[in-house]
Order: sequence, then C-alpha cells, then structure tokens
Amino acid sequence: MSYQFMTTADGSPTLEWQQSPDLVEKMHHSQGALSESLYIYLPVIQTVAEAGWPLKFMSLGLGLGYNEMILAAWLKKQELQGRPLSLQRLHSFESQDLLKDQLLLWLGLAPANLPASEGFSQAYDCIVQALCRHFQLPAGLIQQTLVEWRQSDIWQLKGAYLPSQEPVAEPERYSGLFYDAFSSKMNPELWSEEGLVQSLQDLCEPNCVLATYAAKGSLKRALRRLGFAVDLRPGFAGKRQCTLGIRSCQSSG
Ligand SMILES: C[S@@+](CC[C@H](N)C(=O)[O-])C[C@H]1O[C@@H](n2cnc3c(N)ncnc32)[C@H](O)[C@@H]1O
Repeated sequence: MSYQFMTTADGSPTLEWQQSPDLVEKMHHSQGALSESLYIYLPVIQTVAEAGWPLKFMSLGLGLGYNEMILAAWLKKQELQGRPLSLQRLHSFESQDLLKDQLLLWLGLAPANLPASEGFSQAYDCIVQALCRHFQLPAGLIQQTLVEWRQSDIWQLKGAYLPSQEPVAEPERYSGLFYDAFSSKMNPELWSEEGLVQSLQDLCEPNCVLATYAAKGSLKRALRRLGFAVDLRPGFAGKRQCTLGIRSCQSSG
C-alpha cells in the first residue's frame, strides 16, 4: 500500500491510494475534493436537520475527513445563526489506521509517540481553511468542534466496516449515511445488492438519507428494496450521476 497527495482544481487536497500495482484510486474528483464532498454529502446533513430527525451520522470511509469537517462546519454555522442543533452520534469507519491516526494527531488527540506526517497536517489545514472561508467561520472552530465531539465520545472512529452476514442483534442505527468507500473495484464487498440490503437494514433508522458519489444498479435496487426513494442527481463535474436515497416514515423510530 502506498499513497500520494494531490491538489485538485478547487485547491483542496486528495489522496491517490495504491492498493497494489494495478489497483490505484483517487479519493476524490480531480475537479475539486471539497467541492465534490459539499455537492454530494452536504444534502445528507441538510435533509436530516430540516426534517428534524435525530442527528446520527455514519461516515464510511473517513479518508481525509472531509465529511466530518463539513458536518462540524455546517452545525457551527447553524449555531452562530441562532439555530443550535445537537449532534447525537457520528461514527466514522476507516480501514486504514494511518488515516485515523493522522487526523487524531493533527487534533492533538493521539499519543505523542506516533509520528505525525507534514503532508497530512498541511492537507487538514487546507481543508479547514477552505471550509471556514466557505461557511464564514472563525479559524479554529472546526478543529475545536471535532475535539469536543471526540472527547465526549459523540464522534467515534472505528475500523473497517464489514458488511454483516446476518442481522445484528442490537445494531447502531443512523439517520444519515455518507457512503463514501472506494469503488467496487477496490471494495467489492461493499457494493453487492444483497450485501447492501443486509447492511443497510441494520444501519438505517426508519427515517434515513444516504448519499454516495456512485450510481450503481446494485445500490439503486438495494435502496428501493428497503423503501428508499432514489434521486439520481447529476454527478459532480460532468460525472453522469450520483445517488441520494431518502426514506421518510411517520415516526423517527
Ligand atoms: C473515497 S475515500 C473516502 C474519502 C473521505 N470520505 C474523505 O472525506 O476524504 C474511501 C475511503 O474508504 C476507506 N475504506 C475502504 N474500505 C473500507 C471499509 N471496509 N471500511 C471502512 N473504510 C474503508 C479507504 O481506506 C478510504 O479512506
């Protein structure tokens, strides 16, 4: 496994991840990592908040933490505008320890004996600066929010998400899912129709919204089988489509 930082067209960083010599994938679109993350995943947060559903989010995979930072920025913006909202749960899943460790180090929350990488801290700095400009927030607020969430255990950083083979006894459920794993070439186990149905059955609250950059047939079928209305939005920067699935029941369960 090896990786390389790259700057995308809107100035925000992404990582190119090489799993094996012929398996390489960029985490984001070359036209803008931050712009793409805002375009695809912010509607999850807005939909959950506007519907008044419990603010319980799952982020599959953490990567550089764009979706976690966007959530922190958006909620702080609401608070500063006199609409405080209380996050109940943010669970970030990431199979690469390096990515969890580097983010925690940058936040000052990891053991000092872990080596920090300048590339990572520069990347996180760049993302929060761009988000503070975008949402007109004071510097430092996003980091401070993430630290508070982590210290109160509202934000948990978990390992690889492994699709369940059988229904889970007491599943932790979410109202909003940022479904942002690598593609089916890298992560085939996360994209099969049966696997998705089995996993999402356990992961989703009755009222739930899921977004992903992909528009795979298996995903659309799985969402429809679970009662989601599937909105195929135009993809980011000329990509054909991306997916926003919304399931709205009467009670929030
Ligand atoms: C497209 S990138 C995510 C980008 C990320 N959301 C961000 O904001 O930068 C996909 C991520 O999923 C992680 N991943 C792959 N398989 C996973 C699994 N089974 N569970 C959790 N994370 C996984 C990869 O290591 C990678 O960091």
